[in-house]
Amino acid sequence: MKAAYFEEHGGPEVIKIGELPDPVASAGEIVIDIHAASVNGADWKVREGSYKQVPYFPYVLGRDFSGTVCEVGEGVSDFVIGDLVFGVCDVGQEGTYCEKIAMKAALCAIKPAGPSHIDVAALALIGLTAAISVEDTLHLKAGEKILIQGGAGGVASFAIQLAKHIGAYVITTTSAGNVDYVKGLGADEVIDYNAQDFREVVSDCDAVFDTVGGDVAKGAFDILKKGGRAAFIASGANGVESPSSDFTSLRPNVYRDRPHLKRVVELIEAGAITVPAVKLFSLDETIEAQKLSQSRHFRGKLVFNFR
Ligand SMILES: NC(=O)c1ccc[n+]([C@@H]2O[C@H](COP(=O)([O-])OP(=O)(O)OC[C@H]3O[C@@H](n4cnc5c(N)ncnc54)[C@H](OP(=O)(O)O)[C@@H]3O)[C@@H](O)[C@H]2O)c1
Repeated sequence: MKAAYFEEHGGPEVIKIGELPDPVASAGEIVIDIHAASVNGADWKVREGSYKQVPYFPYVLGRDFSGTVCEVGEGVSDFVIGDLVFGVCDVGQEGTYCEKIAMKAALCAIKPAGPSHIDVAALALIGLTAAISVEDTLHLKAGEKILIQGGAGGVASFAIQLAKHIGAYVITTTSAGNVDYVKGLGADEVIDYNAQDFREVVSDCDAVFDTVGGDVAKGAFDILKKGGRAAFIASGANGVESPSSDFTSLRPNVYRDRPHLKRVVELIEAGAITVPAVKLFSLDETIEAQKLSQSRHFRGKLVFNFR
């Protein structure tokens, strides 16, 4: 199969395009012909080795996909060859920047009929992350006020729509060129972070969902009301410590399972979620996609289209 892979950690230029052996389904697994796979914010960190050292080389990046089942392993009774499925790799695993993947069947779900493979690949991990963060971790409620940091990114694009679906008042931050985009996703208030410091214009929030990290993340505690809670997904495994017992600091545990994939499907089918802006790449353009992702300045999702 054709794959984008690397044999040493480093910059985008360590990525090679070539042939790797086709995967084989072990017990409990299915093999999927991948139609589309997305680039996620963690991928370049894995490539650099700053996030974790990978367990073997050659190593294939990528965490989510949409495609067709082409092999069914022993003990799998919930899928047959030809089923259209999508999924997110287990925590600690990657391998979707390629034409085929062997995955635990339990981490896959039937692809919804309406959206394309590209759309579903774009939504899989960001949907799971947003649902676990906003619903299961922050327990956001109707009428609450939330600040979602980094509104134009993939996870935040989903989270803004989910928070509006719940009935919350949504404030978000982005650069000037993405203000109309995040308004289109439903944000009630948008702060251009280059023109205004959010700490000066936002206060009394019930919740903060931070997808940016660094000093931006720490600022969450300046704008929460007493009793407020903040969730951090871009500040390492431990999140950000709260400076006071007045606030709750949370680090969402973004585990992967079929019920959360089904939750993403439910939200799509309810019309609550539209697909974020998508920029398409071929596998041959992986280095370009990695560079753009690592710049952290683009809109929505970067998606590989294989077929
Ligand atoms: N399992 C997990 O815990 C988990 C899962 C998924 C993602 N993550 C993490 O979550 C983070 C977000 O990932 P992602 O893929 O959604 O997006 P991303 O690629 O990390 O971020 C891209 C977006 O960030 C925005 N941005 C950059 N600097 C900003 C700032 N100072 N203020 C506001 N917005 C800013 C950019 O908008 P502008 O161009 O307008 O600046 C761009 O749209 C990453 O760190 C990723 O590793 C964690």
